[in-house]
Amino acid sequence: MKIIRDPKRMQAQAAAWRAEGKRIGLVPTMGYLHAGHLSLVRLAAARADVVVVSIFVNPTQFGPREDLNRYPRDFVRDRSNCRGAGVDAIFYPAAAAMYPPDYSVYVNEERLSAGLCGARRPGHFRGVCTVVAKLFNLVSPHVAVFGEKDAQQLRVLRRMTRDLNFPIEIVAGPIAREPDGLALSSRNTYLTPAQRRAAPELRRALEETAARYSAGERSAARLRAALRRRLARIPGARVDYVELVDDATLRPVRRVEKPALVALAVWFGKTRLIDNLRLGG
Ligand code: PAJ
Repeated sequence: MKIIRDPKRMQAQAAAWRAEGKRIGLVPTMGYLHAGHLSLVRLAAARADVVVVSIFVNPTQFGPREDLNRYPRDFVRDRSNCRGAGVDAIFYPAAAAMYPPDYSVYVNEERLSAGLCGARRPGHFRGVCTVVAKLFNLVSPHVAVFGEKDAQQLRVLRRMTRDLNFPIEIVAGPIAREPDGLALSSRNTYLTPAQRRAAPELRRALEETAARYSAGERSAARLRAALRRRLARIPGARVDYVELVDDATLRPVRRVEKPALVALAVWFGKTRLIDNLRLGG
């Protein structure tokens, strides 16, 4: 397994693979890999000859009061997980190599990024789009895999890929969960034992919303109100947002007639967890 730190070397390696006729799969990550990331690696491996995992805690997608400095990192463990998963190369650039001091070009998606996490984290998706566009240019993948865990991110990046004409197939991976239902996340490591015990309630609350929908409830206001009440009963949880949005446009819906996304972000102390569930379709 190659470990490539220099962006120019990454580009040269990608060009060499392409010259050999290899299909390249990319799984962008910020490291501290878990089974969710590794499930995306398997999806990439099924669609490509070589798989690159990028590990880069991207400073431009963190707000000034967010957790950039304390974001968990463990390259030695990530490297052994990647080796075990049959990854061909880890692209592991330094921040200064990706963003020189006079760096000045950003990619902005202006529609799908407006609500949900985009409204709560100004500049977040600008950072995400910028770094993923750079990774696309450096790794030159035929296919890139992203998780439904970050449902808005996936849709924003699909739109960026379409609108900027990247010749890249975007593949979505399902949300990997702990046995108790908590969505796997590098940030779960921040949770105290009590918060960790309460966190699986997020998934249960979403499942109750799905049950209400299955029983025939179509009013977004009523589904949302019931979900809010349910979340309010979780010990130590503080709701950041709860929304029912159209699955394609991410605009709030009044009635759930087309496929919709129930998306939530909840604080447990200083830790912000997100989860989502699709209704219909
Ligand atoms: P990160 O949070 O490390 O996630 C990397 C990829 O793994 C994303 O596509 C994310 O949706 C996916 N993922 C995370 N948890 C998952 C889970 N439980 N099940 C399935 N997939 C999961 O998302 C980012 O990094 C960054 O924003 C990035 C795209 C790398 C740009 O910096």
